[in-house]
This record gives sequence, C-alpha cells and structure tokens, in this order.
Amino acid sequence: MKLEIKICRRKSMFLQEYWQSILFETEEENATVAHALRQINQTKGIVDTDGKEVELPIRFDCSCLQKKCGACAMVINGRPRLACDAALKEFVKKGQVRLEPLRKFPVVADLIVDRSILFENLKIMQTWVSGSAKVPEKHSDEAYEASRCLQCGCCLEVCPNFYAGGSFFGTAAFVPTARLLSSLPVEEQQAIRAQYKAHVYAGCGKSLACRDVCPAGIDVDHLLSSSNGIAVWRHHG
Ligand code: SF4
Ligand code: SF4
Ligand code: FES
Repeated sequence: MKLEIKICRRKSMFLQEYWQSILFETEEENATVAHALRQINQTKGIVDTDGKEVELPIRFDCSCLQKKCGACAMVINGRPRLACDAALKEFVKKGQVRLEPLRKFPVVADLIVDRSILFENLKIMQTWVSGSAKVPEKHSDEAYEASRCLQCGCCLEVCPNFYAGGSFFGTAAFVPTARLLSSLPVEEQQAIRAQYKAHVYAGCGKSLACRDVCPAGIDVDHLLSSSNGIAVWRHHG
C-alpha cells in the first residue's frame, strides 16, 4: 500500500505552520496513521515529495495505540479522529491523507496541542468526589457510558459553541459531569448542578455534531437528556 501523507507542521507555537508531503509505503494491511508516523520518525534521511530532507521527529502525542488514551487525536482529512484508529487503507483510493493538529487548542509543535483547558474546565465543573460515591442502580448505565470518555477533545473540534477559555465547556466537560451527576446523592449535587447549568446547559445548541465524531461512540444524546433531567428539570434553585 502506497500513499502520500501530507502533514501540517510547525516547529513551535511561535513559528508559522507549513505543509510537508511524504510518500509512505507499507506492506502491513492494518497499518494506521499512528503507525505510519512512528515508522517515518524511525527512518533516517527520509525526503519529502520536493526532495527535501524531512526534519524529524514529526511530533505527535501517542501512548496506548489501542484507542484507549485519547492522546493521538488530530484532524485527519478534515475530521477529528484518533490516529491509532485511522487505518491507512481507508485513504488509499484517494491516494492522500492530510494530518492537522486539533484547531481548538494552542498548537505546541506539529500535531501536538495543549489540551490543559480540558482539565481546567473539569476543575471548574468540580468533577471530583470528596468521599465515597456509590452509583445508584437506576443510573449505572449512564455512569458506565460516561466513564468511557477519553478526554481526547474531538467533540470540541466540531462544536460550534466551544472555544478555549469560553464559558461553554462542551461535551468533554459534560460527559464526566454526567458520570458524577448519576453517582452523587441528591444532597451533594448542588454545586455541580449549578456548574452544569452555567457551563453546559446554557450553551449547548443540541446539534449533536459532537456525538457523530466521538471515537469512543459515547451516547451523548442519552447522557445529555439524562443529565438535564437530574441537574435542571428535577431540582430547581
Ligand atoms: S466525549 Fe468523546 S470525543 Fe469528547 S472527549 Fe470524550 S471521548 Fe473524546
Ligand atoms: S450538541 Fe452541539 S453545541 Fe452541544 S456540545 Fe455537542 S456539538 Fe456542542
Ligand atoms: S494512542 Fe491512545 S488513543 Fe491513540
């Protein structure tokens, strides 16, 4: 299998980005974008399609290679995806795959972005438990579903209402909050319900574009209506 890998590169956040194309060939039928980047990074003296030596490494985040950690999220042919879940054979017919960093976060270098805003927003949402929490049986499905969030940020990339530093925190903050809302006893939910109303409920347009790109396939639709039920409709004030 042979294809052109076109990568949006940037040496650091202070320098201009540029595109670089590399012809990549592999015998491995199930090779992914993450595999290709790793292989390119191990190839000394590799040249681009203009014959220029490629400055290595091509920087990208990657850890589990099993769709479990969310680190390798990037924009692949215009869609936010996990590089370890994007099989090269999907792109062979087109002959090219384009890789860009997620655009809603500051770019650190090449395909690496600074996603610390995700954690900062979770802190504001107060998504932690200070004592023991037991998931009530009637909400165990929601709690399990919400626990599958990878914090990859793909959902924020397509959300028309999210921008880093804004008051709407998007699905990456809402899903872990839904987990807590379904686990905490009602008397301990007050603070988190207030944050939910301010940073999720008030800003979500419910287009569900986030659901369509979530690499974990989280049932955002269901979690949203269930959390609205817990945080907004049943408890006023
Ligand atoms: S909800 Fe889905 S897309 Fe959003 S951060 Fe979690 S796993 Fe990623
Ligand atoms: S439903 Fe639409 S507005 Fe709400 S978080 Fe998802 S993409 Fe954003
Ligand atoms: S490397 Fe962990 S999800 Fe891709």
